[in-house]
Amino acid sequence: MGRIILTGDRPTGKLHLGHYVGSLRNRVLLQNEGNYDRMFVFIADVQALTDNADNPGKVRDNIIEVALDYLSCGLDPEKVTLFVQSQIPQLHEITQFFSNLVTVQRLQRNPTVKAEMVLRGFGEGEHQDDNKRGLPVGFFTYPISQAADICFCKATTVPVGEDQEPMIEQCREIVRSFNSTYGPVLVEPEILLPSSAACRRLPGTDGKAKMSKSLGNCIYLSDSAAEVDAKVRGMFTDPGHLRVEDPGKVEGNPVFTYLDAFCEDSDFERFWPDYANLQEVKDHYSRGGLGDMKCKKFLSKVLNDRLEPIRERRHFYEKDIPGVYEILRKGSQAAREVAAQTLHEMKDAMQINYFDDAALIQGQAAKYNG
Ligand code: TRP
Repeated sequence: MGRIILTGDRPTGKLHLGHYVGSLRNRVLLQNEGNYDRMFVFIADVQALTDNADNPGKVRDNIIEVALDYLSCGLDPEKVTLFVQSQIPQLHEITQFFSNLVTVQRLQRNPTVKAEMVLRGFGEGEHQDDNKRGLPVGFFTYPISQAADICFCKATTVPVGEDQEPMIEQCREIVRSFNSTYGPVLVEPEILLPSSAACRRLPGTDGKAKMSKSLGNCIYLSDSAAEVDAKVRGMFTDPGHLRVEDPGKVEGNPVFTYLDAFCEDSDFERFWPDYANLQEVKDHYSRGGLGDMKCKKFLSKVLNDRLEPIRERRHFYEKDIPGVYEILRKGSQAAREVAAQTLHEMKDAMQINYFDDAALIQGQAAKYNG
């Protein structure tokens, strides 16, 4: 069996550096290695609507933003099928069949659902008090829909951040349940996590655990060089590092986490020849005598060096917005064909392919007229 890679993002905002080191950079590497039969990257608008039902404009406007971010990172529509979730109606049928194989209790134990329920203020119980909205069924069951996203193409490999681990685990359970109940149609996917800790969880510029649009602590892929400079200059560092001579803390200092995630030895030759590698900088900072500003200047140069080709490609695609929609339209068409094939196999296994099943029709005829 070949390798089929699939992943996607919710279109709720522009993509930022956390997305980049957590997944996007990996996807482009995977794409270029070419070690796969097929690769799909999609925009999860149906999932975005599960907690943005009242904000369709936001979802709609972010389709193009996410598509531009994908293309500008180097995803190549010749190699990767780029599509939009809502344009694949088969996903809903698959979701419906899967939902018979999942219990409410199992969904309630999904740690990602639990955490997001708190985050989004979805309460439980019969009474909806002032600050708790009721829990939408679509939101509660989105892990099932996510399993359909993964299974429609029999994905073997899902490159995502570690927050998605419970989703992949639940998908694997659904696949096992489907296959043991109806027959071996579907494939259990493997998660593919970023290799380093810094890449798995890139903190916000304010030092908070995660980049998040609502916290205003993101550096976006589409930020200009001047915006990146300003955001890096304002970054949280070690609050105990008051004077340059003081010893500084590297651990938990986002400037160093970003450097861990982005810088390479060759960057020192190019941008900071006083040091040979990041370890030397860290040692000096920890000893004392190295100021935050110098580290930030270097970080800014490294980030802008990585972002420059991304910006250039973005400007190229921004000039042809209808062409970008066309890429998504064609990709969605291709994804529908794959989904239709899988759904056909599923319905066969589930014995609901009545009109294709000559033996069934003849058997019933014989029973009545035999
Ligand atoms: N849940 C993912 C996120 O929030 C998006 C997503 C939806 C996804 N369906 C998927 C990711 C299938 C990988 C595979 O970012």
